[in-house]
Amino acid sequence: MKAKITLLPGDGIGPEVTDSAKYILDSVALIFGHDFIYDSKAIGGIAIDQQGSPLPDETILSCKNADAIFLGAVGGPKWSNPNSKVRPEQGLLGIRSALNLYANIRPVKIYPELVGASPLRSEILEGVDIIIVRELTGGIYFGKKSRNKFSASDLCVYTTEEIERIIKVAANLASNRKGKLCSVDKANVLETSRLWRDTTNKILKNEYPEIEVETLLVDAAAMHLLSRPSEFDVMVTENMFGDILTDEASMLTGSLGMLPSASLGESKIGIYEPIHGSAPDIAGQEIANPCASIASVALLLRHSLGLEKEAKAVENAISTAITSGARTVDISLKNQSGISTLEMTTEIAKNIN
Ligand code: IPM
Ligand code: MN
Repeated sequence: MKAKITLLPGDGIGPEVTDSAKYILDSVALIFGHDFIYDSKAIGGIAIDQQGSPLPDETILSCKNADAIFLGAVGGPKWSNPNSKVRPEQGLLGIRSALNLYANIRPVKIYPELVGASPLRSEILEGVDIIIVRELTGGIYFGKKSRNKFSASDLCVYTTEEIERIIKVAANLASNRKGKLCSVDKANVLETSRLWRDTTNKILKNEYPEIEVETLLVDAAAMHLLSRPSEFDVMVTENMFGDILTDEASMLTGSLGMLPSASLGESKIGIYEPIHGSAPDIAGQEIANPCASIASVALLLRHSLGLEKEAKAVENAISTAITSGARTVDISLKNQSGISTLEMTTEIAKNIN
């Protein structure tokens, strides 16, 4: 097939892991006979430096014309002056919102060989296979903000419509898995969470009676994710809670460098990105773990391009490379060095078939 893919490398290790993603896409194109055309555009800090905006119009245009978008990471100390009105993160939030990609899917999959890389005991990790669905275009991230000398505020708003559509995404995923859905909120304190809970219960009762539902307060969920992670199937939550819980959940897999994500809306177009950030401390050293990015490529192939066989081939290649001992430093045993980003990428690429 022919597909247009916009690449948004961004900042820090973003360009390094985007190179890995492109390497894998090129391998898939070659092996399976596809034609992927790339358009690379600026976003985040580099876009501020080059064009004065974290999300230039030409970047939005390229994304709107693409079949799928791959994004590296945005942000870094250079642009983190708290008093600055323009920030790299506005580029990422802006493009999620411009494309109405309200459903962020973050699978938490354990590779058995990496159990030793997690800070948790191995018996707790046995059988962990979770998908966390994070609402991505609402809540406190997008509410009105204000600031004066003595106070500041961020408004958190959710509409029933926003809640309904994300719950349906999560419920449909759960229906095709173990049929278990855990909804996370803070309904003992927040009005938005009470609306979340009421709306969730209504939809699930009326439209998904077969689904086994669990409701957790976010503080308890943070604990249960560590004490009994294997009991979860699909978890769904609002924007901010999802941001926090997915970083926490990444440590089940051993490293933040392992978790991919897909941001989806009503059409086929999606943004695929590793959940890790720009990691300025290791940027430019070519030691970043490309697994999260490469697993994001698999999600891109599956969800935006409908290439299930190719997606599986990439996922299998990551597993095979890990089984054969390929490790970047973040997933190596203590005091052991790791291979470079490019070496890890080629280890994976050579197992695609
Ligand atoms: C993520 C990131 C972003 C978020 C930042 C960079 C704005 O942490 O994708 O999880 O908070 O959504
Ligand atoms: Mn995050």
